[in-house]
Amino acid sequence: MEKLVVLTGAGISVESGIKAFRSEDGLWENYRVEDVATHSAWYRNPQLILDFYNTMRTNLQSKQPNRAHISIAERELEYDISVITQNVDNLHERAGSSKVLHLHGELTKACSSRDESDVSTFVEIGYNPIKMGDKANDGSQLRPQIVFFEEAVPNIEPAARLVQNADILMIIGTSMQVYPAAGLIRYAKPNVPIYFIDPQPRVSPQPNLTVIAEPASTGVDKAFEMIEEARMNA
Ligand code: APR
Repeated sequence: MEKLVVLTGAGISVESGIKAFRSEDGLWENYRVEDVATHSAWYRNPQLILDFYNTMRTNLQSKQPNRAHISIAERELEYDISVITQNVDNLHERAGSSKVLHLHGELTKACSSRDESDVSTFVEIGYNPIKMGDKANDGSQLRPQIVFFEEAVPNIEPAARLVQNADILMIIGTSMQVYPAAGLIRYAKPNVPIYFIDPQPRVSPQPNLTVIAEPASTGVDKAFEMIEEARMNA
């Protein structure tokens, strides 16, 4: 089976009712990144961060995967698919994708606030809130398992290896502005076809890149049709 690597950003979850960050009315329009998404913000005001992600986690329960998440999951019958997502929601998993690598953490998990990269402190909390006084197994205050700005992205190496070994790369719903995630495109082998799906695509043209300027819910199925067409004509 051909190895298809799918790199997703907040845009794939917009049609599920989850705001993106940098589009109009995006999350960063209403909150300052430095207040709710940086390592130093956690030490400055942990309660604000707990409240911010508790609200996001509660809201996630009522959101559903959309056609884009489902289409990717369904195609596991035809391709060896690995999803690399910048998103912290669980919509890929709930759509049925079996291999999902989260670069920026998972909203339904919590971790140590002493060492947020210590996987042995990760705990599944579902849609439940984290309260001041809740403890990780290392005795520190429990915090959301979200990779904040100023923190390392431990899964970037396995993600780069997945892209290096991909036969096809699909990039959906990301403004390609946050590194190291945005740099993953550079790991694709030179002849690998890349399908870029975004209604307002911001990507520099390159020979093997096909841009589908549509929302994910229609653009992903269109990309799979184009991949099949290319296979038939190969
Ligand atoms: N379908 C596909 N793409 C869409 C849709 C849609 N229906 N609606 C919006 N988009 C696109 C926007 O045009 C934009 O290019 O999704 C992209 C979202 O970009 P961002 O809001 O910057 O989200 P993302 O690229 O995932 O941000 C990366 O930044 O704030 C941090 O950690 C956070 O993981 C996040 C990272």
